[in-house]
Amino acid sequence: MGTERNLLTWRLYAVVLKMKLLLTYVLGLFFTGVGYGAEVGDFDHVQRNLQSDATDQPYRTGYHFQPRRNWMNDPNGPMYYNGVYHLFYQYNPYGAVWGNIVWAHSVSYDLINWVNLEDAIYPTGPFDVNGCWSGSVTLLPGDKPAIFYAGIDLKNRQVQNIALPKNTSDPLLREWVKSPHNPLITPPNETDPNFFRDPTTAWQGEDMAWRLLVGSQIKGQGTAILYKSIDFIRWRMIGSLFNSMAETDMWECPDFYPVSTRSRNSLETSDQGELTKHVLKASFNHHDYYVLGNYKTKTDRFSVENDFTLSSSGLRYDYGKYYASKTFYDSAKKRRILWGWINESDSKAFDNKKGWSGLQSIPRSVLLTETGKQLVQWPIKEMEKLRAKEVTTLSKDLKGGSVVEVSGITAAQADVKVSFKITDIAKAETIDHNSVDPQLLCSSKTASVRGKLGPFGLLALASEDLKEQTAIYFHVLKKHGKFVVLMCSDQSRSSLTGGLDKTNYGGFVDMDPRHEKISLRSSIDHSIVESFGGEGKTCITARVYPSLAVGNRARLYVFNNGTVGVKISRLSAWSMRNAQIAPISKRRKPKTN
Ligand SMILES: *[C@@H]1O[C@H](CO)[C@@H](O)[C@H](O)[C@H]1NC(C)=O
Ligand SMILES: *[C@@H]1O[C@H](CO)[C@@H](O)[C@H](O)[C@H]1NC(C)=O
Ligand SMILES: *[C@@H]1O[C@H](CO)[C@@H](O)[C@H](O)[C@H]1NC(C)=O
Ligand SMILES: *[C@@H]1O[C@H](CO)[C@@H](O)[C@H](O)[C@H]1NC(C)=O
Repeated sequence: MGTERNLLTWRLYAVVLKMKLLLTYVLGLFFTGVGYGAEVGDFDHVQRNLQSDATDQPYRTGYHFQPRRNWMNDPNGPMYYNGVYHLFYQYNPYGAVWGNIVWAHSVSYDLINWVNLEDAIYPTGPFDVNGCWSGSVTLLPGDKPAIFYAGIDLKNRQVQNIALPKNTSDPLLREWVKSPHNPLITPPNETDPNFFRDPTTAWQGEDMAWRLLVGSQIKGQGTAILYKSIDFIRWRMIGSLFNSMAETDMWECPDFYPVSTRSRNSLETSDQGELTKHVLKASFNHHDYYVLGNYKTKTDRFSVENDFTLSSSGLRYDYGKYYASKTFYDSAKKRRILWGWINESDSKAFDNKKGWSGLQSIPRSVLLTETGKQLVQWPIKEMEKLRAKEVTTLSKDLKGGSVVEVSGITAAQADVKVSFKITDIAKAETIDHNSVDPQLLCSSKTASVRGKLGPFGLLALASEDLKEQTAIYFHVLKKHGKFVVLMCSDQSRSSLTGGLDKTNYGGFVDMDPRHEKISLRSSIDHSIVESFGGEGKTCITARVYPSLAVGNRARLYVFNNGTVGVKISRLSAWSMRNAQIAPISKRRKPKTN
């Protein structure tokens, strides 16, 4: 009953949204080209002419966020404000490779369909003349958003600046004004001014003072420096939040937020009840690593439960291509949402040819697991409204050495959920290494190496002859008398094209295969496969560029290349519709001189 009513409300809501989006789009066209250009700083390294005219675009996605063309990297300052979701992102308006970085700006009513607006922040003053790099939004009392971002100043130092909306009554917050106090934070003496960037969302302590972190590196070791302020203008350095023992590069895009140990509700960034833990995420060595710990604003001490672990047996948001992520608290639905930049795995030449580079992951909700030992991530519920035709298989044996096609859906643009039941666990293979790096294990146990209980899973973006396939699969193994579940994503046969990064990724899934079904969800979208193992405990994202398994020639299979049979408890697969991402409004032209 309740569900039906919700569904109806949702449908009505969707209609209103569509009308609003249409209106916004029309207004967007109307405002095209207004008002900037003169104040834009000189980009002396502008790459002109890289706006792609390529018509053959098999790798563009249907429901992932990506701009029309050009380079995109880190998500910046995501927020929910006044009924609208905002996503800013690092963007090169002039080319498909990194450079000329500004904050591009898109808005949405549902995190799925987007309207692209004008760039929000671009170089204008001595404090950011050489670039406007990553940062975050804080909602100040009275619900006033403030952007904190890293500017590259006249001396090429990395400094922290603020921008505020010009008009908080503008529902789309199109224009941003920089503070006359910029730069607010300059690099401390002991820090290399090239390693001081990516301010976090600020949080407020019991003393009402604001705190934020800036990513850095001191004496060759990554760190996050804590700052404190009463008025949000004058900031005082407190010191490193915690000193990791692990060898890390500079910590880029730190993120710091509370998670509830008790309920499924997420917490606002300043929330600090008794029943919370804090997550510290940092991006370094090509991955997004996190630790859990206890943080009290009284002392500003963060005591971690475990240090960063660099091997893929430690905690990462994602064991594949996933970097520079950022969360925000969605007050409308009381959840914390994670955005991440998905890099390409091809060459710059290839990016120039296709005219674009970079995707944003599907927005994922993040929660602590019931055990409190790690986070779980799951595609936001709104994604499911793009699901179209469904095919379902129930309770089916999957013999060792079998490959079964999942037909009847658009395999190149699909969402798949499958769960496997292990019926013969005694046959699991024993591994006796003491410490095993799952990624290395996956590199030797590829989909084409037959094991016992595994590899079994999905073959996404596969060609009919299986010459191309991206395999996402599991192995059930026995280690020191305990059963472990290994999850892998094998890119080695993802494309017949050479010159691509085809690393195999892997991670363990913290679960007991004797009592729990092994589940996998993969969101497949032409050149990306985002996979969620064990209901989101282990996530692996792959970027692949098939040459045969393209468009309606792509196939989806479920397979078992072990010698022991497993059972499919349930498999559901859906064709996915396109998200609507309205064309970008006309951009200012590069200066010709
Ligand atoms: C601020 O935005 C509102 C809503 O779009 C508009 O009515 C108002 O005129 C704007 N104020 C200024 C000073 O531009
Ligand atoms: C940083 O260096 C400047 C210039 O050398 C000096 O005046 C200042 O006292 C130093 N600050 C600290 C905190 O050491
Ligand atoms: C992005 O991908 C390219 C190509 O695989 C690689 O060279 C580069 O190091 C990656 N960047 C990051 C931050 O991982
Ligand atoms: C299964 O393993 C065999 C033997 O190594 C290999 O030839 C075949 O390609 C594998 N099947 C799949 C679906 O990977």
